[in-house]
Order: sequence, then C-alpha cells, then structure tokens
Amino acid sequence: MLAIILIGGKGSRLRPFTCDRPKPLLPLVNRPFLEYQFDLLKAHGIRDVVLCTSYMPAPFKRLLGDGRRLGLRIRYAHERRPLGTGGAVKNCERLIDGPFLVFNGDILSSLDLTGFLRSHRRDRADASIALTRVKDPTLYGLVETDPGGRVRNFVEKPSWDEIRTNTINAGAYIFEPGVLGLIPEGTAHSLERGLFPRLLELRRRLFGYVASGYWMDIGTVEKYLQVHLDIMSGACRPAAGKAAPARKPLGQSGLACGRGVRLGREITWPLDGGQAVLGEGVAVGDFAKFTGHVCVGPRCVIGRGAQLEDCVVLKGTRIGPGATLRRCLVGEGCRIGANASIAAGGAVAGGSVVGPYSVL
Ligand code: GDD
Ligand code: MG
Repeated sequence: MLAIILIGGKGSRLRPFTCDRPKPLLPLVNRPFLEYQFDLLKAHGIRDVVLCTSYMPAPFKRLLGDGRRLGLRIRYAHERRPLGTGGAVKNCERLIDGPFLVFNGDILSSLDLTGFLRSHRRDRADASIALTRVKDPTLYGLVETDPGGRVRNFVEKPSWDEIRTNTINAGAYIFEPGVLGLIPEGTAHSLERGLFPRLLELRRRLFGYVASGYWMDIGTVEKYLQVHLDIMSGACRPAAGKAAPARKPLGQSGLACGRGVRLGREITWPLDGGQAVLGEGVAVGDFAKFTGHVCVGPRCVIGRGAQLEDCVVLKGTRIGPGATLRRCLVGEGCRIGANASIAAGGAVAGGSVVGPYSVL
C-alpha cells in the first residue's frame, strides 16, 4: 500500500526552528521527526512512500534519498507553488493505483494502521479519517460522526460555538482512488475545506476511525517540547524502530548516552522517573545538574555547574558554566554565556549568542 506524506508546509508556528529546516526534519529526541512516521508505517508492513514537498525540498532528498537506507522506497512529488493538502495529493495521481494512505507530516501517533485499514474496508468507505480526542478542537478539523462512525460534519478550525464533539481529524486518511476525481488538477485545493465537505454534500461514504493511544501534532514550539518530554517519560511509546542511542530504554529514569559522551565529576542525573538523553560526543562539565527530562543533541558542551530542567538543546550548542535552562528549547550551534538563564517558554534560534548573565 502506498503512503503519501504531506510535508510541504512552512511550519510557521514552529519558528525559529523551521527558519532553516522543514518541520518534518526537525530532530525529535535526536532523530529526524519523519523517521518516527516511517517506523509506524514499517511496523504495519508499509514501505512504499511518496513525500509531497514544497517548502525546502532539498534537505529531504539529501537526508532520505530513495529510502533504501531506511528499508523504504521513497519517491517525491514536488509542488513549485504550494497546492494545499488536496492539491498535493492530486499531484501524486500518476503514482496511485489502489487505496492509499495520506498522512500529515507533523503528527506523532501510535495509530493502529492495520485496524484503520480493516475498518475502512468493513465500512466500504470512499474515504476514512483517523480521529482523536482533544480538549481544544478549535485548532484542528472538527469531525462529527453518527453512532455507526459515518461522518456527518467536518469543520476545519471551528469556532467555539460550532463545537458539539471533541473528536478531531488526526491527520491520517485512507482514500479509494475514485475520490481523486473530486480534486481539481494543477490548482490549490484543501482536503479539509474542499474534499471532505464535498464528499458529505455528495453523500459519499466518509467514515471516522477513533484512534486510541498517543497523538500529538508537533506544529508549535510548545508541542515540539512536549513531545520530547513525552517520549523521554514513556508517555509516548513510538512504533518499534531504532530509538535514540540509549543504554536503557527511554521511559526509565536516569541517563541514556550516545557514543563518545564525556562526563565530568559529581554530575546530578534525573531522579523520580526523569531522564537525560545525551547525543553522540556530548561533553558535560563537573557539577552539572539534570532534572526532569532533558535532551541534548550531538556534540553539545554543557558547562560546569550548568542546570538543565525539562528542556531540549539541539546539536552543537555550548551551554556556559553556571547557566540555567528550564522548560525551553535551544536551537543548533548556539552559545549560551556563563550564568545566563533561560526560563520556561524560551525558544532560542539556532546560531544565537546569549551573553553571560542574560535573563531570557
Ligand atoms: N505538499 C504540501 N503542500 N503539504 C502541505 C501544504 C501544501 O501546500 N500545506 C500544508 N501541508 C502539510 C504540512 O506540512 C503538514 O504536514 C500538513 O500538510 C498539515 O498542515 P498544517 O499546517 O500542520 O495543518 P494544521 O495542523 O493547522 O491542521 C491539519 O492538521 C490537524 C491535525 O494536526 C488539518 O488537517 C486539521 O484538520 C487536523 O486536525
Ligand atoms: Mg499541523
């Protein structure tokens, strides 16, 4: 079965981290995010992937190539001008020869694809939408179904007065090839605002499949941090794949180190179920303290006595002695000065230099 992954968005809500890299390639616990989706596909026997690119296509090709290294067959369908979620799918038409899967490229989930497919077939659906439950549906596509699971209403980014349920579009679909005829060619089109309402108007068989288990859209800075914490705490257990380089499985307290990590004396490691994940070649100075869940990217240097709590530091960053970081994200190749402090909610752009004693 073919899986189409939509990865052409600009990831604007994830700036500054998406200024120089597309969202699906951002590291998540030291692995490119997209690899988690690949693991999920492979866990359900799906190896044929089409990536719909628009914003920054080059890094995908460079990193993933034809997919052989990952045990996949990866092809690319590029849009010179973004065609929207529906136009992107239409742009793959020549590669489609049967029912196919479509994924948003920024979803981390433990969706049971095999169960999803079974339910699609049982319902004899033209299209099926995976659903999940959230507290605030206004940020998503609201999907109302009848007791048999048939979709009755789809409202993208509803206002609060339109909300009558908490099930939303989880960003994963199964389509029969026939629905492609409803998407116009060579022009921008949205699945959410165009195709789904149209299928309902035409009374075609559109079904929802309520997925249990973990689900998160990593599309904002806050959620990007949260998803890191959830993986390290074990709240999210991604599909079996090559986990971040670790001595212990993630989700156990303590320390998980990549190759070539150098550790100083008297370092305090997380207790009470917390975990520090240190990428390859990280150096940690004496008396540093890690609390909660902390992910440090490859080749970072953590200064003497620095304190890190529930935070993420990307590749090649140097944290000065005595600096403190709490519930924040620091991009690649930054220099954080001695005794600087970055508070909850901080998002430091890659390459930034933060002077000593700065308070952010
Ligand atoms: N190729 C291509 N071309 N991909 C695109 C384009 C485009 O023009 N526009 C968006 N995408 C990709 C994005 O890269 C992302 O992976 C996916 O489509 C969804 O876009 P987002 O910008 O992340 O949408 P959203 O998060 O606001 O809402 C969508 O996802 C929710 C679940 O997280 C909708 O599908 C909602 O209905 C859904 O609930
Ligand atoms: Mg999104």
